[in-house]
Amino acid sequence: MGKLKILSEFFLVLALFLSFVAMSGSEANLSLFKPPMNEFIDSLMNKMTLEEKLGQLAQYPGGGSLGFNTGIDDDKKEMVRKGRVGSFLHVSGADFLADLQKIAVEESRLGIPLIFGLDVVHGFKTVFPVPLASACSFEPEAVEKAARIAAVESAASGIHWTFAPMVDIALDPRWGRIVEGAGEDSYLGAVMAKAQVNGFQGDGLSFENTILACPKHFVAYGAACGGRDYNSVEVSMRTLNEVYLLPFLAAVRAGAGSLMCGFNDINGEPMSSNKELLTDLLRVKWGFDGFIVSDWNSIGELINHGVAGNRVDAGKKALSAGVDMDMTSNIFGEGILKSVEKGEISEKLVDKAVKRILETKYKLGLFDDPYKYCKPEVEKAEILKEEYIQFAREMACKSIVLLKNKNEILPLKKDLEKIAVIGPLADDRRTPLGSWKAAGEEKDVVTVLEGIKKAVSKDTKILYAKGCEINDDDRSGFEEAVSVAEGADVIILVLGESADMSGEARSRSKIGLPRVQKELAEKIAETGVNIVVVLMNGRPLAIPWLAENVPAILEAWFPGIQSGSAVSDILFGDYNPGGKLAVTVPRSVGQIPCFYYHRNTGRPPSEENPYSSKYIDLPIKPLYPFGHGLSYTEFKYSKLRIEDKKEEAGDSLKIAFSLKNTGKIFGSEVVQLYVRDIVASIAPPVKKLVGFKRVYLEKGEEAEIIIYLPVNLLAFYNKDMKKVVEPGKVEVMIGSSSQDIRLDASFVIEGKETEIDDSEIYYSVVEVKK
Ligand code: NOJ
Repeated sequence: MGKLKILSEFFLVLALFLSFVAMSGSEANLSLFKPPMNEFIDSLMNKMTLEEKLGQLAQYPGGGSLGFNTGIDDDKKEMVRKGRVGSFLHVSGADFLADLQKIAVEESRLGIPLIFGLDVVHGFKTVFPVPLASACSFEPEAVEKAARIAAVESAASGIHWTFAPMVDIALDPRWGRIVEGAGEDSYLGAVMAKAQVNGFQGDGLSFENTILACPKHFVAYGAACGGRDYNSVEVSMRTLNEVYLLPFLAAVRAGAGSLMCGFNDINGEPMSSNKELLTDLLRVKWGFDGFIVSDWNSIGELINHGVAGNRVDAGKKALSAGVDMDMTSNIFGEGILKSVEKGEISEKLVDKAVKRILETKYKLGLFDDPYKYCKPEVEKAEILKEEYIQFAREMACKSIVLLKNKNEILPLKKDLEKIAVIGPLADDRRTPLGSWKAAGEEKDVVTVLEGIKKAVSKDTKILYAKGCEINDDDRSGFEEAVSVAEGADVIILVLGESADMSGEARSRSKIGLPRVQKELAEKIAETGVNIVVVLMNGRPLAIPWLAENVPAILEAWFPGIQSGSAVSDILFGDYNPGGKLAVTVPRSVGQIPCFYYHRNTGRPPSEENPYSSKYIDLPIKPLYPFGHGLSYTEFKYSKLRIEDKKEEAGDSLKIAFSLKNTGKIFGSEVVQLYVRDIVASIAPPVKKLVGFKRVYLEKGEEAEIIIYLPVNLLAFYNKDMKKVVEPGKVEVMIGSSSQDIRLDASFVIEGKETEIDDSEIYYSVVEVKK
């Protein structure tokens, strides 16, 4: 055998080995056999025509009124063949997407793969509680796991990219999209943003069971004036930085590979053409290296905002501001072609955007194997696994908040003689899925009625009456409901909103129970039978009558496919509730905005002082405060210790205390750390959450909780808009809610005022020593 042959065989084996290693999918391995990303993309871009480049910037709807994929007609396929499409959204299914990808890869001139996006917001097929609910778990590890499962399922169904997490802070429950985020607090929002990005993107984008995250809607979309969706935002730069930007920074630092800009304008500047925020802040200052997608037609809407005279102008403004991909306006894809050709819009700008999108496709591994997400066998095996369904039940249990439990009426015995289950949501299959149900199906939902029937003893009689519709004035069902209620041992009354009363374009001017539901509750209460209310809703509901008149209230939000199992786990004591409110529940619309971290004002609200900051016709406090949530057991906090009470910027303060389960059963408590700067150059909030941990303890068990609080977490924007740690005394509060503070101490920040890097994010670290 000649030397040459041996050598060539050796190289053949080596090549086979390398491609085998490459197929195992690790990011490091990819670099072994492929030219480095830059080289690869530059050489690809050299071959691209201007049309093909603009095609990469264009995203088209693949869905239609009949559901996913129904918008992909022959015209769209022809556009793919011509290299005029970079991405489709609202598509799904391994088989369908493999065929579509095949057109791009095999029939277009350069074979550039498509990227498929979908709003996988709280699960794909296994639908978990809506984000506002899962934030109430105060358990980022669980939230991350739910996002991981969502990624595995959707990736198996051909999806590369989710438009999530939604990290908008929302202080106004009229805003329907409050359901999609983590509530009112920026620290909790940042922790949840990070958890979700980690869950979606897993160990790296090149793995075939991870998807690209897309935190949205950059930025302050949740501050829509009056809570009216799409509305303008008026916000100070200080509040923008301290409140609204923080969860985005968390998502970017967690490595989010894309980002969506909002529909809104901020102080008159629409986000889709906001260079200061999209480029100067996000890319230059924060170093974000992913790509930015517009929101649905938000580039075209620059004309409605009144900042662009026509579509070309709108495209130019968006592209110059830093938007890379155009979701559905078809302005980048076709509208600006002639202007770029004529040199009115710089091709360099186009190239930058194309490069970012191709880089992302490269990182997703689509140039190695464009079909790696579209494998029907994987899809079959991965979707709706039993373990996922079980976790959906656990996640729902963790997210439900026990608002009230007078005389410990809950948990109920499983062998009661007769239980009346009443209400328009008791046997509703659609509502628990909430908004953005992705591929979730009603057939997979366990309703509350079904859950209860399964949980109780075989001799327990369950009687059911709907009573009324969710959003209707018909009272004809009241009589039947009352007759079902009479003589029952307990009534489970399931009330709230339908899934489509919150979410996009679902702002409400009233935030109570819709229509005749309160009347139904009043009628039923006349029977004198104990009522347990289970609420399903996508926003905090102002329910003062219920809060006053029924003994127990469970806030279930929209709990996902395992809704009924989780609710009955809690009703009958198989799960001890421990969720806490991620958002304040106001008493009425008039109390909005109502959030716990307001400033003190010169006239702090006081019942005694009429000339103080309050309403004359409402109590000062909200109905239920941020962080509130009861348990079937009790917890005692003691022995607060602050080691070294003098700290400086950059230090970490060690706070330790003891937590004991003093009740009769196993349970969990979310310990919450709040701080208050006593005197500062800018009026500080009355308290601010800077750390938390959900701690699980057996009955009688005691744990030492140690929180390492970075002093930099206390920094704020001073008069010169520099983020600084100021010297002075700081109050430290450990609580079971923002209003139920159990331990209190203080420490002093020493040294000089110190400016800190505001493109860094800080988290407290909590240790539980049992
Ligand atoms: C518009 C919504 O605002 C956004 O959140 C969503 O991701 C896109 N539509 C795509 O569905």
